[in-house]
Amino acid sequence: MKVITVFYSLYGHTFKLAQSVHNGASSIQGVESQLLKVEEFESVLERTADSEHAKAVRDQQKEIPVCTVDDLRAADAVIFGSPTRYGNMAAQMKQLIDSTASLWLKGEMEGKPAGVFTSTASTHGGQETTLITMMIPLIHLGMIMVGVPYSVQGMIHTEARGGTPYGPSTIAGPKGELAPLEGDLKIAEALGKRVAEVAVKLRG
Ligand SMILES: Cc1cc2nc3c(=O)[nH]c(=O)nc-3n(C[C@H](O)[C@H](O)[C@H](O)COP(=O)(O)O)c2cc1C
Repeated sequence: MKVITVFYSLYGHTFKLAQSVHNGASSIQGVESQLLKVEEFESVLERTADSEHAKAVRDQQKEIPVCTVDDLRAADAVIFGSPTRYGNMAAQMKQLIDSTASLWLKGEMEGKPAGVFTSTASTHGGQETTLITMMIPLIHLGMIMVGVPYSVQGMIHTEARGGTPYGPSTIAGPKGELAPLEGDLKIAEALGKRVAEVAVKLRG
């Protein structure tokens, strides 16, 4: 049973959530969990060449393989993480999803559980819109969306932090100065576990 967590993260916040999602999936018996990244655009590499922060984050991710269409085909479940870009997923992640026509044509993603997670700069920067719009192409592919139930500890809260029923999230701050809080990471771990558990149950 293979569960993959595929993410894009320019400044490292979504990456931290991805690590927790991956750890959660790994903790389920019989599951092989793998962390994969999406391919970066050449234009972004050029534009951020002088950013020490972006370079450091890329270095942290350098051993993580880039997700291919074959990785998606081989996975029993997939959890997708993207930073928010104008209330929506990043184009790098959309590019991966838009490369799945061959999978869609043969229904190869149908019936596989999926989850989504995100990071925003600000509290009301569009976490829910990103998470819900990330689900739309996954539903077209026939995947079965798995969210985070309110029985997960920390889901009912009123502070400025992440954690939505549509998927885990975190607030990076306008300059990326914040780090995911322990509660954000726990909710990310809970999604990884839940998607993996659903995959195991569906396999029977
Ligand atoms: C083009 C662009 C659009 C963005 N749009 C939003 C937005 O709609 N809402 C928001 O809160 N943050 C927005 N951000 C900030 C990113 O969401 C933030 O940098 C990201 O969550 C950090 O995640 P990362 O560390 O994984 O890259 C935007 C950033 C860029 C570059």
